[in-house]
Amino acid sequence: MKQLLKTLTETFGPSGFEDEVRKVILKEVKPLADEVRVDVLGNLIVRKKPAKGAKDPKRILLAAHMDEIGVIASHIDKRGFVRFTNVGGTFGKYTLGARVRFMNGVTGIVGYDRFENVDSTIPLNKMYIDVGATNKKDCPVKVGDFGAFERSFMEMGDRLVAKSMDDRSGVLVLIETLRSIKSTPNDLYFVFTTQEEVGVRGAGPAAYGIDPDIGIAVDVTATGDTPASIKMVMELGKGPCVKFRDPGMLSDPRVVDWMIQTAEKAKIPYQREVLLFGGTDARAIQVTRAGVMAGVISVPCRYVHSASEMVDLNDLKNSVKLLTAMLSKAVSFS
Ligand code: CO
Ligand code: ZN
Repeated sequence: MKQLLKTLTETFGPSGFEDEVRKVILKEVKPLADEVRVDVLGNLIVRKKPAKGAKDPKRILLAAHMDEIGVIASHIDKRGFVRFTNVGGTFGKYTLGARVRFMNGVTGIVGYDRFENVDSTIPLNKMYIDVGATNKKDCPVKVGDFGAFERSFMEMGDRLVAKSMDDRSGVLVLIETLRSIKSTPNDLYFVFTTQEEVGVRGAGPAAYGIDPDIGIAVDVTATGDTPASIKMVMELGKGPCVKFRDPGMLSDPRVVDWMIQTAEKAKIPYQREVLLFGGTDARAIQVTRAGVMAGVISVPCRYVHSASEMVDLNDLKNSVKLLTAMLSKAVSFS
């Protein structure tokens, strides 16, 4: 599991350029799936059909996004320095000094314009990427090239650190859930979505095409367990979070009940989640077509949208356990 997470997080995949990540996932899921297809927006749709004789199977969509936050080159100056803007929630506070890799393999480091107060947060438009060029002509990056943070995976006991834990940890949970489900009475669609970080653009069209009864996103959630963090109850290592609310959606209470009852019955630790910022694919799934019952299982994560996002291995394992328990049985809502 750790090795696959290392591979997933070290793979390049800013929004709109999820191809390399999709290749890694495809290799894992192909032997486990009944059907595999890729839609126009690049969503990877992996189906596990209901066992023969299953009565009234529910169509359940599970979503985890493949893309990560990144940068896009917007201007190259005469000395070959690359100006850039954000792709998704790339924050100034985390970007300064970062290493960046572009689509064509070119790497660079983020420098900044002169500023007076070293403790102030610098906006991205006061930064540039130094790719080792000396002039505009020999600069190997062109306007329109996409880049992402470059950072290797690191283990600190059960605490795992990497770029793009948002949402490759969710991708891992879906792959391992698919692997662990032996047989299901439900019609399952594991969807590895594109372009979540730029405003949840892949999941909606995918859900429209699948027309599910229930939709569940698996994504990271911020925690309230660091010094002077925002007051939120989610903590690393205390189990998967059952989302009640984020600014983008209210979880369907029937789906929340299903998650909590399954966790309690199977004695899987879980946490209640009210997230004060951010959103997930479930937001778009919930309001597609005539509406879909939707919820979210979240992996607690510190330092979200930095190049060193931290999750706990036990939360990943328990997320797989919870989803496996939920999806292996027939679902009925009264
Ligand atoms: Co994110
Ligand atoms: Zn995410």
